[in-house]
Amino acid sequence: MTVQPLPLRDLPADLDRDRLPQHVAVVMDGNGRWAKNRGLPRTMGHRQGVSALKEILRCCDDWGIGALTAYAFSTENWRRPHSEVDFLMTLFEHVLWQELQEMMRENVRIWFAGDVASLPQSLQRAIAQSVEATQHNQGIHFTVAINYGGRQEIVQACRTIANQVKEGILDPNEIDEALFSRYLYTTNVRDPDLLIRTSGEMRISNFLLWQTAYAEIYITDTLWPDFDRAAFHQALLAYQKRDRRFGGIKS
Ligand code: FPP
Repeated sequence: MTVQPLPLRDLPADLDRDRLPQHVAVVMDGNGRWAKNRGLPRTMGHRQGVSALKEILRCCDDWGIGALTAYAFSTENWRRPHSEVDFLMTLFEHVLWQELQEMMRENVRIWFAGDVASLPQSLQRAIAQSVEATQHNQGIHFTVAINYGGRQEIVQACRTIANQVKEGILDPNEIDEALFSRYLYTTNVRDPDLLIRTSGEMRISNFLLWQTAYAEIYITDTLWPDFDRAAFHQALLAYQKRDRRFGGIKS
C-alpha cells in the first residue's frame, strides 16, 4: 500500500516540500525596538511578539514542519528591569492558559527547555498543566525555551551524568553524543535544521549551543513582531539554497 503524503496547506509553490527543515529554532529578537519605533512601551512589543509566534507556529504546522523551538527568556534576561521581567512572566502564564484550548484543537504538543523550577510558582503550574494536557497530541512539537541558557543546560547534563556514574547507574564508557543529547532539555526532539534570528544581531546568545552544531543560520533585519509568513517563506527559500554537507564533501 502506498502512503500518500498529507496535503500541506498553502505551501508556496517555490518551496520544495521534500527539502523543508524538520525543526526550526527562532531567536525572537527586536520586540523592544519594534515598540520604540512606534513610540509604544516595550511591553507592547512583547505582546505583538506573541502574535508573531502564534502565526509562525501555525505556518510550520500548515507547511509540514514538525518542530518549532522559540527562545522566550534566557538565563541572562533576569538582568532586565524588574517591571519588564514581571511583565514577561505574567505574559507567559497568561498566554499558556489562554492558548491551551487552541493547542488542543490544533494537536500541538508543548514542551519547555530551561530551568523551570526557578520560575514563579503560578507560571510553573501553567507549564506543568500545558505539558500534561498536550503530551499525547500528535501534531507539531512546540518547545518554549524559558529561563534557558545553553551553557547551563550542558552543565546540568554533566552534573546528572556524573551523579549517575557515581551511583553506578551509568558506565562512563557508555557516554557518547547520543547519550549526552538525552540529558539535555530537548531530549525528545531532533536537532534544529534551521536557526532563525530576527533584528539583525549576529550572535547565538547562548541558545541551543549543542543542538545547533550543524544548523543552518539565517539572520534577518526584520524585527520579531514583523516576522510573518512572507518573512518565514524567505527564510525557507534561503535555507533550501544552502548546501548542507555536515562536514563532508559534495556528492
Ligand atoms: C527579545 O526582544 C524578546 C524577548 C526577550 C521576549 C520574547 C517573548 C515573547 C515573544 C513571548 C513568547 C510567549 C510565549 C508564551 C512563548 P528584545 O526585548 O530583546 O528586543 P530589543 O532587542 O529590540 O530590545
